[in-house]
Amino acid sequence: ALPYDLVGLKFLISAGGTREPLDPVRYLGNRSSGKQGYALARAAAQRGAQVTLVAGATADLADPAGVEVIRIATAAQLSEEISKRAPETDVVIMAAAVADFRPVHLSGAKIKKSDKGPAPIELTTNPDILAGLVRARRAGEIPDTTSIVGFAAETGDEHHGVLDHGRAKLARKGCDLLVVNAVGDGKAFGMDHNTGWILAAGGDETALPLGSKTLMASRILDAITVLRPDGGGT
Ligand code: C5P
Repeated sequence: ALPYDLVGLKFLISAGGTREPLDPVRYLGNRSSGKQGYALARAAAQRGAQVTLVAGATADLADPAGVEVIRIATAAQLSEEISKRAPETDVVIMAAAVADFRPVHLSGAKIKKSDKGPAPIELTTNPDILAGLVRARRAGEIPDTTSIVGFAAETGDEHHGVLDHGRAKLARKGCDLLVVNAVGDGKAFGMDHNTGWILAAGGDETALPLGSKTLMASRILDAITVLRPDGGGT
């Protein structure tokens, strides 16, 4: 049976990919399916948490039972929904694949072919929502007790490239936990199984055996309860 250990905790979980529009019919997007974030939302709700899921573009996934689902498209919309809710949240998990860049110009009309060939797409950097949460917590805008969890999808061969990038990213982002998984070559994105590591700011590193995203979700929730004085009591 699942532990019923997250009662009284509010979770805010992002999932899926953002889409950054170029014109009314085109966007820059990514291959995130949202499955890992949905699995986390479902598992947290089953363990008694009150869960809000902020979802971008996903595969065809059913809304998890008992979870409030908010739909967004762009990174800016995701940022708005997350920052609005984070101050009243105990655990924020950024499982969404947020576009690092967005087009500078959004054309009001469909971009036309021209004899001059394609026009270059000028991009600008999206704010890092996860790093922004950590800054907001340091500034006292989010309670000290709010746990902040990030994901890192890294390409690389086996352990080293992937794990080293993950450690560097944990330090750079300043979150409490970073879930690192290997992507590319059919790994993770869109798949029903996943593998990787959970890296904690305190230095703990937990290797995750290859398993379902449901199993991965429960391992991640276990790691969160270890961080929290109010979690893991049962
Ligand atoms: O730096 P990178 O994109 O690999 O970091 C991934 C983590 O940061 C994920 O948790 C993702 O949700 C989050 N992120 C974010 N805002 C961005 C880019 C990534 O919150 N603009």
